[in-house]
Amino acid sequence: MSWIQEAELNPVERLCASILKVGPMPEHVAFIMDGNRRYAQKCRVEREQGHSQGFEKLAETLRWCLNLNIREVTVYAFSIENFKRSKEEVDGLMELARQKFTRLLEEQENLKKHGVCIRVLGNLTLLPVDIQELIAQAVLATQSYNNDLSESLLGKCLYSSSSPDPDLLIRTSGEVRLSDFLLWQTSHSCLVFQPVLWPEYSFWNLCQAVLQYQVNHAALQKAKLLHEAACQRQQVEADLACVLEQMSTLGETEGTECKQELILKYSREREERVSNFLQRLENKRRKFLTDLVQGSSPFLHV
Ligand code: IPE
Ligand code: IPE
Ligand code: MG
Repeated sequence: MSWIQEAELNPVERLCASILKVGPMPEHVAFIMDGNRRYAQKCRVEREQGHSQGFEKLAETLRWCLNLNIREVTVYAFSIENFKRSKEEVDGLMELARQKFTRLLEEQENLKKHGVCIRVLGNLTLLPVDIQELIAQAVLATQSYNNDLSESLLGKCLYSSSSPDPDLLIRTSGEVRLSDFLLWQTSHSCLVFQPVLWPEYSFWNLCQAVLQYQVNHAALQKAKLLHEAACQRQQVEADLACVLEQMSTLGETEGTECKQELILKYSREREERVSNFLQRLENKRRKFLTDLVQGSSPFLHV
C-alpha cells in the first residue's frame, strides 16, 4: 500500500472539497506538526507511538492536499532545538523519519505526476561554509554597487527559493509561535493556529484552515502587491541614486534623455551581476548536495 494513499475522499468530504475549490485555493501549504507527545499522554500510549501516528497523519494529510489541488506542502518535522530532547527520543524520531521518507522517496516517481516534491530545508545559518563565503564575497563586492543587495536577492539565496512562499501556514496543538520555521517566507502568508493535536488532525480541520485563508485572501493579496510595488520602487530609486552619483563623480551634467539611458544601462548591468552571482551560488549548492549524496562532503565529517 502506498504511504500516501491514493484513496478518494468519501462523498461528504468530496462535496465539501468541491465547494471549497470554488474559492481561491492555497497552492503551497506549510504545516508545523505539533502535539505528538501530548497526544501520546492523552491516549496513554508510548511517546514513540505518538510520533509514529504523527507520521501516518502526514501521509493522510498529503492525500487530502492532493484532493484539494494543493500542489505543494512543506512540513516542519524536526527542529534544531529538538536535538536537545533525550537521545532515545531523537534516535527514535530519526529512525521514523528515515523509514517514512525512504518510502516517500520510493514513491516519488508516482508523486511527480501530482507535482508533489520533497525538499529538506535548513535555516540560513546552516548553509555550508563555502556558500556562506560566496554570499559574504558578494556582499563585499556590492559595496561598490550598493544596491545589488535587495530583499528579493536575499530571498533567492535561500534553499526554499525554487518554490513560491507558502500561502497558508498551519500550526497545530494550540501553540501560537513559529519556532523559527520559514520566518522569511511567511511574511505574507495566512497564519492559522489550531488547537487540535497533530495525530488527531482531520480533513475538516484542513478545510477550516483553507476557509480561513479564503476569508483573508483579498487582504493578503493586497498586502503582498503593495509590498512588491514598494520593493520595485525602492530598486528604481536606488538605481537612480547610483547613476546620479556616477554622473557627479565623472562631472557629467547631461540632459534627462541621457540620464534615462544610463539608468536603463545600469539596471541591465545590475540584473546581470545578480544573475551571475545566483548562477554561481546554484552551482556551489548543486556540488554541495552531490557531495553530500555521494558521502564525500566535508560537512559530513565535522
Ligand atoms: C511535534 O510534537 C513533533 C516534533 C517536534 C518532532 P512534539 O513532540 O513537540 O509534541 P508536544 O508538542 O510536546 O506534545
Ligand atoms: C518545533 O518543535 C516544531 C515542530 C513541530 C518540529 P517543538 O514542539 O519542540 O516547538 P517549540 O520549540 O516548543 O516551539
Ligand atoms: Mg511540541
